[in-house]
Order: sequence, then structure tokens, then C-alpha cells
Amino acid sequence: MKHTDAKNDHLAAYWMPFTPNRAFKDTPRIYKSAKGLYYETTDGRQILDAFSGLWCSNLGHCHPKITEAIQKQAANLDYSTAFNFGHESAFDLANVVADQFPGDLDHVFFTNSGSEAVDTALKMALAYHRINGEGTRTRLIGRVNGYHGVGFGGISVGGMVNNRKFFGGLLGGVDHLPFPYNAERDAFTRGEPGTDPMEYLKELEQIITLHDATTIAAVIVEPMIGSAGMFLPPKGYLKKLREITEKHGILLIFDEVITAFGRLGDANAASYFGVTPDICTMAKGINNAAVPMGAVIASKKLYDTFIDGTKAGIEFFHGYTYSAHPLAVAAGLAAQEVYKEENVYAHVRSVAKYFEDGLHSLKGEPHITDIRNIGLAGGLTIAQRDGVIGARSYDFFLKCYEHGIGVRSNGDTIAIAPILVSNPEDLDPIFDALKKAANEID
Ligand SMILES: Cc1ncc(COP(=O)(O)O)c(C=O)c1O
Repeated sequence: MKHTDAKNDHLAAYWMPFTPNRAFKDTPRIYKSAKGLYYETTDGRQILDAFSGLWCSNLGHCHPKITEAIQKQAANLDYSTAFNFGHESAFDLANVVADQFPGDLDHVFFTNSGSEAVDTALKMALAYHRINGEGTRTRLIGRVNGYHGVGFGGISVGGMVNNRKFFGGLLGGVDHLPFPYNAERDAFTRGEPGTDPMEYLKELEQIITLHDATTIAAVIVEPMIGSAGMFLPPKGYLKKLREITEKHGILLIFDEVITAFGRLGDANAASYFGVTPDICTMAKGINNAAVPMGAVIASKKLYDTFIDGTKAGIEFFHGYTYSAHPLAVAAGLAAQEVYKEENVYAHVRSVAKYFEDGLHSLKGEPHITDIRNIGLAGGLTIAQRDGVIGARSYDFFLKCYEHGIGVRSNGDTIAIAPILVSNPEDLDPIFDALKKAANEID
């Protein structure tokens, strides 16, 4: 060990992601095991996971079926390159995934994370236009407060300032749509706000007029805004967005890294909202996060353009050493069986109202200035203390942890994403802890 003086110095070598390292290493929170809805910490506490890991352990931790599948796979085929070789289960998983997406979203490209899925989707969009004879379509459009992972493509179309401002010029030719939320008008709305979506989408029409549609490749949005604190665009927003993009030959990408596989009570947000984009990203719930995995699903039209438009050789110069990694795929096939056998999407629909009522019962508690919900996803806004972004919401998060509940704070928000197989009695302790936290912090 290189450092031995400071308190907890054995923690220094690990540079932790998206974590205030100094504060964490002073008072660490360390998990040693997990089962079902609970983590166990090294100091022997049980923590109810009210964030599904990180929006990803949808079926609960260490699901026996998924664990067994990974163990078996590790002993049988530990690795197989995806370049010029396949293994059967990768094709099986692609079919299982494709069967759950609407319209002609038929072709699945495997990655290892959501960030890679986003960059893959953006590259697919750009290359598609070029192969299709419209190589001038190079501009990308994201949204203010959007989160699309941490690759250079993802942070360029993303709209969270701290994820962008340290990292130079980013991709050129990127515009951002406005954040579709108005705190004064929308606070405490259950589900999607009723605002006219054109209030936010007229800016898209202005961007199209400014640059001309023939220069624009794609628009990417999160159908449910996750990392910024769980916000929903107004009713009809995604349908209108589809109409405008389609009219102008612009590809629409839904970033479904959080929403695919049950969070809203359907297989994905495209099905839930009845809007079919050209490309969707996914990750996390695809295999219950037991092994890193992401994926992109593209329309038949897009795929056929690549395949038919390339005379010989590789159609898409892109891929990862670990694309369709056998362990990730094994976890994926097992997780997909569990979603089906345990009827998880229907279960989410059946508890969504209980979750909504429980969350909105917190209206009026100190510091909570907004409550939002859809399916089994919830967001709170916590009033700033002394104008410092995130200080009070971070205390709120710590207080929940003290009360044995794991949630997530980001900026001035708290996000709640219970494990999808939670029953009402599993949700009650979450509401209790949120209420206590609101009343115990200053
Ligand atoms: C919408 C969205 N896109 C992309 C990502 C990035 O995924 P990963 O952390 O697996 O790279 C996330 C992660 O939360 C996400 O919520």
C-alpha cells in the first residue's frame, strides 16, 4: 500500500466514479453482500435498496436463476470474440429483446454499458445517412439536462453542465432542445404534466429552420428523464417529436438505458408511450446488471440500409472486445426469463398507484418542493440550503441511508427506483424514511 498515514488510507487507491472521494473515504459506506431487496454493509446493517442498484437490479439482487446461469456459462464458454464469430445464445438474446420492442425495431447490437450504447447509436445514425446518400446529415440534437452516459458522444448531446464543462470542446454541430419542465406550473403533478408539448418543441422547428433538415442526423432524448432527477415530458411530447422528426427525415433515438425492461410497467418506454423511434439504447435491466451489458436496437429500415448498401465486407466499422460477452448474455437470457415467469411488467403496473399515492403523501413535508412519479420511478426536488446546489439533498440522501434506505441524490433532487418486484409492504419503509429524512435535516 503506497499511503499509510491518513485515516482510512487503504481506500485511497480506488478513485471512485461520480463520488465525492474525500467525503466518502472519511465516512465510507461499503456493501459486502446483497440478496433480494437488501444490501448488507460491512458494519452488518441491512439497507433496503430503493434505487435498484443504479436503476438496474430490477429483479432484486443475486436472483438464483441469474446467478446459476452465469456460473454455468463461466464453466462452459468464458469468452468468445464477437468479430467474425458468434455463440448461439447471443442470437437467442437478440431475438428475445427484439420481440419486446415495437414496430420494425428488429436488430440488436450489443455493447457493455449504456454509454457505449449511446455512442453506438449516434454513430449508427451518422453512418446510416452517409450510406443512404445523405452524408450532409451530421448534426445531432440532444436536450438540456439530458443524460446519455459519459462517452464524448454522450456528453456532447447530454445537457448536464458538470458532465460537460470540464471536457473541452466536445462534438461540434450539436444543438439542445429545452428542458420540458416548469417548476411553478408542474410541481406535484402525478404522471405526465398536461402542458402543450409544442411549448417545448417549437424550438426544434426553429433549429430545423436555422440549419435546414438536410444537415440534421438525429434527435436523442430520454423518454423519461432519469439522471437529472426523474422528470417527465408533457403528455403527447414524444408523439409530436416523432411526427416532426419523421416529417424531416431526422432519426429519432430513445435512450432507454433506464426505461427498458419494466421501469414504467411495460417492456420499454416506446411501447408504454406508443411511439416507435428509429433506434433505442438499453443496458442495466437487460440482464439485471449482474454482468456489464448494453445494447442498441435499430429499425429494419436502418439495418437493411447498412446491409444492402455495402457491396462487400464489414457494414458497420464498430464493436467491442466484449460485445455479447457470454457471461453477460447468459445473465440476459436468465433475466429475460424471470421478467416473463414472474410477470414483472404487470406487477409494476399493479403497484404503480400505491407507489404514486405513497410518494405524493409526502407533499407538505419540510423542504420538498416537488414530487414526480411514473411506474416505479419517483423524483423529489429538495429546496436548496443557502443557495448551494445539492447540499441539502445530499444530506437528505445520507439521512435515508441512516434510516436503512438507499436512494440517490443528484443536484437538488432525490430519485427513488424500487426494485420492480417490490410489494406495497416493501414500499412503506421507503416512504417512512423519506418522511423522516425531510423532518430531520435542516
Ligand atoms: C439514459 C441513460 N443513458 C446512458 C447511461 C449510461 O449508462 P452507463 O453508466 O452504463 O454507461 C445512463 C446511466 O444511468 C442513463 O441513465
